[in-house]
Amino acid sequence: MEIGLLLLTAYLLGSVSFAVVASWLFNLPDPRTYGSKNPGATNVLRSGKKVAAVLTLLGDAGKGWLAVMLAKYFSQTWELGSEAVAGVAIAVFLGHLFPIFLGFKGGKGVATSAGVLLGLNPLLGLLVIFTWILVAILWRISSLSAMIAALLAPIYAFILFDYKINVWAITTISLLLLWRHKLNIINLVIGRETRIGE
Ligand code: G3P
Repeated sequence: MEIGLLLLTAYLLGSVSFAVVASWLFNLPDPRTYGSKNPGATNVLRSGKKVAAVLTLLGDAGKGWLAVMLAKYFSQTWELGSEAVAGVAIAVFLGHLFPIFLGFKGGKGVATSAGVLLGLNPLLGLLVIFTWILVAILWRISSLSAMIAALLAPIYAFILFDYKINVWAITTISLLLLWRHKLNIINLVIGRETRIGE
């Protein structure tokens, strides 16, 4: 019962697309209609309104973080165990990918997964974000940074943090994130992926 409530809350929280909310707030076109058509911070940045992209990034990351923090709190209160936190991490991520409020067509989950990782373990989250930044400095390609960071996240978690159940949640999230980047992978291979700021 309690676990169902947590999973549903996480999914609904994940379903709130801050790309759409921020674009609406700043009177910008719907991000699903231009650029990569992805409702995410990178695509909102293509609108030229940096503050809207930052709001998208913070909002999408914030909902992932909040869901995990709520799960940590309530799983202790209700004595649910770490599986509940892992389940909530996946549920909020799935909400972002398949949002009920956007006809189940959501984003790629990069910012949300960063928030989830920060919630699970701040050091792990920061390490993954640092990886993203490092790759972005080197190649200036947002999707490439996200995919490399996602590939390394479960490895970092496994080697450095000795997680058990959470490694499976992080691996699941990373695999889903990579799958959502399939068009980006094709564009990278044929040399048509846009760089940050283009
Ligand atoms: O944040 C998503 C990013 O990895 C790729 O976004 O719009 O370039 O497909 P986009």
